[in-house]
Amino acid sequence: MNTRNLRFRSNRVRDIASLFHEELDGMYGSGEVGVFLDMLFEAFLGWDKVRLLTSREQTIDQSDLLRFHWALEDLKQSRPIQHIIGYTDFCGCRIAVSPDVLIPRPETEEIVQWIISTFNIQHSAFNILDLCTGSGCIAIALKKAFPAADVTAVDVSPKALEMARQNAQNNGVEVRFVEGDVLGGVDGVNGQYGLIVSNPPYVMEKERAQMQRNVLDYDPALALFVPDDDPLRFYNAIATIAKEHLADGGLLVVEINEALAAETCAVFKAQGLNPNVHEDFRGKPRWISAQA
Ligand SMILES: C[S@@+](CC[C@H](N)C(=O)[O-])C[C@H]1O[C@@H](n2cnc3c(N)ncnc32)[C@H](O)[C@@H]1O
Repeated sequence: MNTRNLRFRSNRVRDIASLFHEELDGMYGSGEVGVFLDMLFEAFLGWDKVRLLTSREQTIDQSDLLRFHWALEDLKQSRPIQHIIGYTDFCGCRIAVSPDVLIPRPETEEIVQWIISTFNIQHSAFNILDLCTGSGCIAIALKKAFPAADVTAVDVSPKALEMARQNAQNNGVEVRFVEGDVLGGVDGVNGQYGLIVSNPPYVMEKERAQMQRNVLDYDPALALFVPDDDPLRFYNAIATIAKEHLADGGLLVVEINEALAAETCAVFKAQGLNPNVHEDFRGKPRWISAQA
């Protein structure tokens, strides 16, 4: 593209930020657009927030300006910022993302932080099992927090596992990735685990209508949806796996659909576990923990 066609008034940082706010504030709100700018300047130019704040009058190269132009166009099309820059940060780990994996969510990060601050490593068999691992974010963050643990992570999607393996390597941790169907009794899950964790698909098909375009168009449907007539299918399977593989005194933690907290608890109670519901930072029931 001829850079004269770009709509930026100049290649000064101040003018780039102004155009982003003019074109995107109505769609995302000014605060979020500010966060996008922080992320783009870091990804494209390696600038931190302080450098961005103190460099408003600086100009950037024409080739970099073009990248901001395309980022602006993509954001107008609801493309997630994480897909534009290619990664997200999760519990201090840089996690690469693509349309093959769910973009890790802040709610999930909160759960992992809670596990790290709560989990008591007094188990004889300290293995960790992450079911439905996607990008591998949970497994990788837990391995970083508990380096002595053996971590196994399962997903049905070979493409997601490829990305998860790459993420583990980039973060310098070893995780055993297993391709398997959680609903079909996973081969390769053996022995006892001190911690079993999962963020499985839990959005009911009938909830599609309330979802944002950037989620529906860019996150894989395989990661999100469950049938309306069997929305707890993953929790039933996870409860069965936990019954067999959760070590004595071990901890089970699952992310849940806020609309189905009571029903999801009932699934774990039926397997003899004693589940507790936890609220996320938005005050919504978001995860269940149960000690064996
Ligand atoms: C909600 S995403 C969670 C991804 C990641 N753990 C996270 O928290 O960001 C659910 C994941 O479950 C995987 N999945 C869907 N059906 C599955 C199945 N039957 N067995 C194993 N994994 C499955 C999807 O490929 C997707 O990666």
